[in-house]
Amino acid sequence: MALDQINVGIIGTGWCGGIRANSCADNPLIDQLHIAEINPQRLEEVAKSTGAVSATAEYEYIVKHGDIDAVFISATPETTHYPMAKECLLAGKHVFLEKPIALTLGEADELIVIANQRKLKFTIGYSQRFSPKYAYVKKCIENGTIGEPVSALVSRHITRSLGKKITGRIKLSPASMEATHDLDFVLWCLAPARPIRVYAQAVEKVMVKEVNASDCMWITITMDNGVAFVVGAGWILPPGYPNFSTTWIEMVGSEGALLVDDSHKDVTLNTMKDGIQFPLSSMPGESVGHVFSGAMANETIHFVDAVARDRPVLVTPEEARQVMEVYIAADLSAERNEPVRLPLQEPPF
Ligand SMILES: NC(=O)c1ccc[n+]([C@@H]2O[C@H](COP(=O)([O-])OP(=O)(O)OC[C@H]3O[C@@H](n4cnc5c(N)ncnc54)[C@H](O)[C@@H]3O)[C@@H](O)[C@H]2O)c1
Repeated sequence: MALDQINVGIIGTGWCGGIRANSCADNPLIDQLHIAEINPQRLEEVAKSTGAVSATAEYEYIVKHGDIDAVFISATPETTHYPMAKECLLAGKHVFLEKPIALTLGEADELIVIANQRKLKFTIGYSQRFSPKYAYVKKCIENGTIGEPVSALVSRHITRSLGKKITGRIKLSPASMEATHDLDFVLWCLAPARPIRVYAQAVEKVMVKEVNASDCMWITITMDNGVAFVVGAGWILPPGYPNFSTTWIEMVGSEGALLVDDSHKDVTLNTMKDGIQFPLSSMPGESVGHVFSGAMANETIHFVDAVARDRPVLVTPEEARQVMEVYIAADLSAERNEPVRLPLQEPPF
């Protein structure tokens, strides 16, 4: 039986939006693809590679277009996320929004209410959940293979060029822009336990000179069932294969443990021109001929599928809000040099 096709819009076709657009272009569940991008060269490039039905600099065209069912919002800076998502949801579109969900918990709450009231799919781009290694950790907890979770650690480092790209457009910390993926991942694994206490430290030695930003943050979270975990995120690695990312995961349970090497050093390319490189090592992944290496294509397909077949989204906006509360607490803790209890009590957040 043929499935109904949907029409999709993408707002912002830079790095991630470009991956979203190319993944959508190949998807048989999509009839029309529409793209909006304010950089004319990039708009032309992505329009050409995807065969988009329309390509415009005005994202409002996508918001107002009556036949577009679902929208991916992949624009930067992150100040665009809340207003664009709000406009799309109010226009009755299902929304996939890159993290962060918003800049304040109040904005996130508003988006969640609109989506729920209108029964629209609304999800946030926590792509790592769509990586097989991460999904395997979740599965081993769910089916009892490692028993009850006891503790966890995730350490992630990305290149300085990426750290500069992010901090050059918005004043958001490594906790909110990088550790956010791993906070989401571990909270997902440990659910339904909830975080109750956050202690974080930030280090400022390198980036502070140029962009007044922290180099890394180390965050300790205590859950309401006594489990504790640590997430460390840094963005000052020297240049690597464009946007090199390296991660180490430990998930220790009462009956077993998982040690996951996601350090992206398993493929080594060595050339006279560039020396040693580690291909396929960015966080979202990349196209390799006829296949996609990485999590972002799977994540994109999942959302299209959820809309077309009316299935639930894997990442709920309520979970994204919980992650946001944890990284706001981490920023506060690092600033005050003391632990912060959750839920956060004091406005304005
Ligand atoms: N899930 C992941 O692994 C992952 C990885 C990197 C970034 N991200 C998130 O994805 C988002 C996009 O990041 P990126 O690295 O692709 O950024 P990017 O800067 O490469 O792309 C953003 C694009 O949005 C365009 N844009 C800005 N304003 C616009 C507007 N009004 N209308 C249309 N287009 C507009 C820009 O011209 C740019 O091309 C960020 O918010 C980031 O947090 C997620």
